[in-house]
Amino acid sequence: MNRNEALSLLKEYVKDEKLVKHCIATAAIMHEIAEELGEDADRWEVIGILHDIDYEMVGGDMQKHGPTGYDILKKHGVSEEIAEVVKRHNHTLFGDYERPVEIALQAADSISGLIIACALVKGGKITEVTPKTVKKKFKEKCFAAGCDRDRIRMIEKLGFELPVFYEIAIRGLVRVKDELGLQ
Ligand SMILES: [Fe+2]
Repeated sequence: MNRNEALSLLKEYVKDEKLVKHCIATAAIMHEIAEELGEDADRWEVIGILHDIDYEMVGGDMQKHGPTGYDILKKHGVSEEIAEVVKRHNHTLFGDYERPVEIALQAADSISGLIIACALVKGGKITEVTPKTVKKKFKEKCFAAGCDRDRIRMIEKLGFELPVFYEIAIRGLVRVKDELGLQ
């Protein structure tokens, strides 16, 4: 499955444009982390795009978030490996992540919103967001409060220091800025 196919499938199940953008953003960061680690960047990006595919379907029932995504993906012939990562990404059900792809997804999922919020403060200009901006906002607990700082910190398990991760994540988001409606 390539990026376009993943995006089409996502849009069959997710109608909220903001959530589609969240998936695109998370995926772009996954792509960059994979490249840094010498992993399969295209596959990691597809995982990022698909990770919240069941979000509207489960209607707030977090016990079903992840497992339902797994079922959707299997129904559409998506590989077990991708479907399994999507299933397990719900940290309220699973956790104790050891696999790099799973750790990366936790961090990418959480930091995407924080950096986009930084861009919105700067009038939507993602190109003006620097690691220093993110570092400052990371410390402000009320800023983008839904972005779990502990999940972002998981990236350290993969050998990235936070400022390096901020730079990598910003780079990913700049690459897809048009799709995100940012400048
Ligand atoms: Fe997500």
